[in-house]
Amino acid sequence: MTEPASRRDFIKGVTAIVGGLITTVIGIPTIAYLIDPALRESAKEAWIPVGKLEDMPLGTPTPFSFTRVQVNGWERTATSHGGFVIRRSENPEDLLILNSRCTHLACTVNWSENDKVYLCPCHDAKFGQQGEVLDGPPPRPLDRYEEFRVTEDGILEIFYKEG
Ligand code: FES
Repeated sequence: MTEPASRRDFIKGVTAIVGGLITTVIGIPTIAYLIDPALRESAKEAWIPVGKLEDMPLGTPTPFSFTRVQVNGWERTATSHGGFVIRRSENPEDLLILNSRCTHLACTVNWSENDKVYLCPCHDAKFGQQGEVLDGPPPRPLDRYEEFRVTEDGILEIFYKEG
């Protein structure tokens, strides 16, 4: 009478163990997959290639742009950035690299070759060739990318730092 009960108990026990193993094998990767974005840190700074230096003419602002994707938990935000490279001489170190984001309310400025100024379309601001404010509401000159380098292949890279 007790033997069938112990066989049943044995089968229950084996079923519970096999079920637990299957749950563990499937559950751990699933949980890891679900919480991974929350644990992942997005890169807050990076070297960004903006073009071949020899393709940039002397004295004329050469525009560039790039996109950064920020990951915050499960939220991904793509942000566009840009600027202008001005080669002041043949010396590859002699560069002025301006951020094209207006310092008023962050609209993108454009270079006007006719007027030799940067124009902001949002509130008609004007910036001079060095990024200085000539007219309009911006509180300060255009920001600069101060850190840059030229690779062995002649690619100009700027150092991007979030914020
Ligand atoms: S955003 Fe450029 S002047 Fe206002």
